[in-house]
Amino acid sequence: MSDQNILREKILKLKEQRNAIILAHNYQREEVQDLADFTGDSLELSRTAAGVKCDVIVFCGVNFMAESASILSPDKKVLLPETGACCPMADMITVSGPRNLMTFFPGYKFTGEYIFPVDFTLRDIKKRYPGVPVVAYVNTTADVKAESDICCTSANGVKVVESLNSDKVICIPDRNLSRWIAKNTKKEVIAWDGFCHVHDRVTPEDVNKARQEHPDALVVAHPECRIEILEAADHVTSTSGMLRFVTSSPAKEFIIGTETGLLYRLKKENPGKMFYPLRKDMICPNMKKTTLQSVFKVLETMTNEVKVPEDIRIPAKKSLDRMLEIK
Ligand code: 13P
Ligand code: SF4
Repeated sequence: MSDQNILREKILKLKEQRNAIILAHNYQREEVQDLADFTGDSLELSRTAAGVKCDVIVFCGVNFMAESASILSPDKKVLLPETGACCPMADMITVSGPRNLMTFFPGYKFTGEYIFPVDFTLRDIKKRYPGVPVVAYVNTTADVKAESDICCTSANGVKVVESLNSDKVICIPDRNLSRWIAKNTKKEVIAWDGFCHVHDRVTPEDVNKARQEHPDALVVAHPECRIEILEAADHVTSTSGMLRFVTSSPAKEFIIGTETGLLYRLKKENPGKMFYPLRKDMICPNMKKTTLQSVFKVLETMTNEVKVPEDIRIPAKKSLDRMLEIK
């Protein structure tokens, strides 16, 4: 047996002893996806975390996802294998303190414009637009969710905005997802100016080049890409939405505009089809931090628990529950 298989067997044994389940996001390393009981997009993982029966959840993803699992299932121990696995976009909006802008992305130069000053906060934007509901993308910290009215994911953003009894909404923190929502609703969308450094880097030239190289392929893009990319794509959807789309499409080739980790699942579940990354460097370093070794370690030591204090958990759960009620 290879070292990797030995480690995998050890994890599976420990998992049973602890009555644990392993959840993994679609961007995780191949061996972590293969180990997981359930792999999915943010919405599917939230729904699974809310309903699963076990004592321990090992969350292979980034910290806001583990926080959401703990908010929804406070009676379970939620373990995050890598405490440093964060989502830089989630840190681009805060409830009160200054936000974090570019410090996480060595080698990536943001070419847009920030609309709000660095010390502008969620409370400031709420004050500027009193009474306007706040829709928080799940890629936010627990205290930001607690200060918001409802959450959304890339899979249900338009539906969530449409469900609100208001002609105007504030969408945080992703400027690209917000613009995509604005394009698909009649409501006025006030967008925060955060972005994902993995998706925001894609340019129209990348799309043209990929189409030239693969003329028969359909372009599928994640709504965290810039609006000009989304407008040029054949289909726009969440990571699991991409899986459903490529599986049901009669097309045989696809150019995938999201983190390259998804290609593993696309290929595995669609062996007769071809998948190409829109850009080879669409890699989220935080999603790649989790390894079999770190999963083993947290299950062995029962460390790295993610727990949200009750005064934040209860209002944050309201925002998540409101989203989960939308079918
Ligand atoms: P999905 O909800 O589509 O899986 O996206 C999560 C994410 O972090 C995208 O970068
Ligand atoms: Fe955050 Fe982007 Fe990584 Fe998703 S891919 S976790 S949005 S940095």
